Amino acid sequence: MERAHYSPPWADTSIIGIAGSSGSGKSTLAHKIVSSLNLPWVAILSMDSFYRVLTPEQHVVAQRNEYDFDSPSSIDFDTLVERLQDLKAGRRAEIPIYSFEHHRRQDSTESLYSPHVLILEGIFALYDQRILDLLDLRIFAEADADVCLGRRITRDVRERGRDIEGCIKQWMSFVKPNFEKFVEPQRKVADIIIPARLDNRAAIDIVVGHVKRTLKEKSRKHQEELQRLGKQVEDE
Ligand code: C5P
Ligand code: MG
Repeated sequence: MERAHYSPPWADTSIIGIAGSSGSGKSTLAHKIVSSLNLPWVAILSMDSFYRVLTPEQHVVAQRNEYDFDSPSSIDFDTLVERLQDLKAGRRAEIPIYSFEHHRRQDSTESLYSPHVLILEGIFALYDQRILDLLDLRIFAEADADVCLGRRITRDVRERGRDIEGCIKQWMSFVKPNFEKFVEPQRKVADIIIPARLDNRAAIDIVVGHVKRTLKEKSRKHQEELQRLGKQVEDE
């Protein structure tokens, strides 16, 4: 008799997706969820790592802040889905390292070991149906547009090697229109819409409660599976 396949609980990573405007506080929210979960084996994966590699011509356009990084076609969804499937199934995944300053992937990658809980954050985290199917919880982070723009300018100038004029040009040409076209509609598929304020303790508690319940349920199923397999071995 063929022995039943045993799948350990860590081979079924719980994945949380956080979408929302650039500058809406997705990454801060992800870090707050991680620290509130207070569990080992929790990781954050940013969709930034999956921006497509540009051609030399596109690169010149990007340097002038005239490249559209806010259309879903700028993201390599196929690779992202593959990596998420690997992580969900308990396998290690190689994650590209992206440089915003140079608009390119670095030669090296980063190894990510399959965690119990993975938070995927990015402007299009709730966009691709293949990703939606892998998610246990779908979050949309919300903030007023002026707050987002303010945060983005500060960050891009400090950390991404940009100037103020370039930031505003890119915002007006691509970020704002594509937010309305592609990012905002993701609200409709979200389980929770979280106002990205600093004091959103209640929303974080809801997320943490949900994740802990999901993990408990998986653990219960795992115990049942172990008992069933044990019994099967005894019967043989
Ligand atoms: O962290 P955040 O969600 O803001 O990152 C997404 C933003 O990064 C997009 O709105 C896009 O305009 C910007 N981006 C960029 N340069 C790149 C890649 C993305 O300005 N090379
Ligand atoms: Mg970010």
